[in-house]
Amino acid sequence: MAERVSIVGLHGGAWYGPSAERALRGADLLVGAARQLEDLAPAGLGGEPVELWGRMDELAELCAGRAAQGRRVCVLAAGDPGFFGVVRLLAARLGPDALDVHPAPSSVSLAFARAGLPWDDAVVATCHGRPLAGAVAAVSGSPKAAVLVSPDSPPEALGAALVAAGCPERDVWVCTRLGEGDESVVCTDLAGLAGGCFDPLSVVVLVSPGAGVAGAAGVAWGLDEAAYEHRAGMITKAEVRAVALAKLSLPPRGVLWDVGAGSGSVAV
Ligand SMILES: C[S@@+](CC[C@H](N)C(=O)[O-])C[C@H]1O[C@@H](n2cnc3c(N)ncnc32)[C@H](O)[C@@H]1O
Repeated sequence: MAERVSIVGLHGGAWYGPSAERALRGADLLVGAARQLEDLAPAGLGGEPVELWGRMDELAELCAGRAAQGRRVCVLAAGDPGFFGVVRLLAARLGPDALDVHPAPSSVSLAFARAGLPWDDAVVATCHGRPLAGAVAAVSGSPKAAVLVSPDSPPEALGAALVAAGCPERDVWVCTRLGEGDESVVCTDLAGLAGGCFDPLSVVVLVSPGAGVAGAAGVAWGLDEAAYEHRAGMITKAEVRAVALAKLSLPPRGVLWDVGAGSGSVAV
């Protein structure tokens, strides 16, 4: 019977939790990038190391073939493999039921932790294997964002593209080699980001000054009537405005002007 394929997320040779450790120690084959295999060497795990990364067709074939022979394959990944990672490919090729996934924290989770900021209200984009322009469009209007960069689009290229796109000022953290022995975090601004020279194994956190700890940026449905200019109470009441706005299912960005017109009390 075919074995399930394990995928274990790592940072600097460290995994998260006992189930990840069981998967690593029980593996016949440890498949990963050279750096990941080196980082794991001191743990003395015992599985046969197979250096294979970036060649995704080969990886899927190897996993399927060896698992069908009853071999326990453990694929090594960065951080959370379900977050812009190898789970997408292997779930598509082998089926989700063929996988046991053991994530470590994602690099974005670690980056916001280093900045000491919550990130439930952040927009996350990537230019790893995708066009830089898409990431710039996704984050330049957002008060809090993180971008996964890459050798083709390193942090300074992101900075230059944000400046060219007219992105307003941002506090910037370039978080590099998170969880590794040589981790670094550089705090700067957009000009410093654009003019710097950074390691591409980084996450760039971008926060509008003052927006770091503000609550999740919600749209204020149904503000009190006193928040608007109106004439002698001629204004749709807060409860009705809130329902009207909620039913419009507005997208996160854009301009709606105006339902009911007049005082602008429904304008967003
Ligand atoms: C294909 S994505 C993988 C993301 C990964 N699954 C995660 O949980 O963060 C690769 C990108 O993630 C970011 N990344 C991965 N590991 C990192 C680390 N240790 N430090 C900083 N950024 C990292 C870099 O932007 C890198 O180009």
